[in-house]
Amino acid sequence: MTAQIITTGDGSHTICSERYGETYHSINGAITESRHVFLEAAGVSQRLAQQQPTRVLEIGFGLGLNFLLTADLALQHGAALDYHAYEHDPSVLLTIASLNYVDWLTDPQVLDKLLSGLADSKQQTQTHICVGQNVTLTLHQADAVQEPLPPGSFDALYLDAFSPDTNPECWTMSFFAKLLASTTPGGMLTTYSAKGSVRRALIAAGFGVKKMAGPPGKREMLHATA
Ligand SMILES: C[S@@+](CC[C@H](N)C(=O)[O-])C[C@H]1O[C@@H](n2cnc3c(N)ncnc32)[C@H](O)[C@@H]1O
Repeated sequence: MTAQIITTGDGSHTICSERYGETYHSINGAITESRHVFLEAAGVSQRLAQQQPTRVLEIGFGLGLNFLLTADLALQHGAALDYHAYEHDPSVLLTIASLNYVDWLTDPQVLDKLLSGLADSKQQTQTHICVGQNVTLTLHQADAVQEPLPPGSFDALYLDAFSPDTNPECWTMSFFAKLLASTTPGGMLTTYSAKGSVRRALIAAGFGVKKMAGPPGKREMLHATA
């Protein structure tokens, strides 16, 4: 996959998906968006700082940015992290090595271990990568909507598919009900979308939903509690 690298507002990279016609991150700042919408809003930064063992489920692994920042923070605090992510387009993983995310990592080994784990994975449907003590990634190379999600109790859900207009199957009430079943009571789901139909579908699936201030360039985003 050779995609043109785009430098976003905070200097971090992203690319544009030909298939969906959208960038993988906000052009106003990929790192800033990831920290604001996912690590901070879903309570993950706070949990890790308090060294609480944390389970994260991500829909749309993409370029691995959310994972890299979350794993780096877990290692910084010596907190256990069990991170599961779904990605149905394995070709995107080949781009990760070309991007500048290492400049934002405290421990560059997080990226090295991700890349070597992906290289060894031989496109298995499920790849388990250990990036540090008690910090693991399970990457499901599968369609999150079609496949059963891992059972159990995730503390945080990063809903980071492409937008509801171009990637509608990831924003339905029935998919949200499946996500709710994987979330621990009080667990949090966050997403960059603030669309009314998404908010209503999350509520219909059983989440408690509120709007929050979005990252730069976006007035609002959604925060849901199981
Ligand atoms: C906005 S990008 C994710 C960016 C990523 N979270 C990051 O930190 O770099 C959306 C991703 O969702 C993936 N995706 C879309 N629909 C999916 C599905 N049904 N199952 C699994 N992955 C999906 C796309 O292939 C794409 O890589």
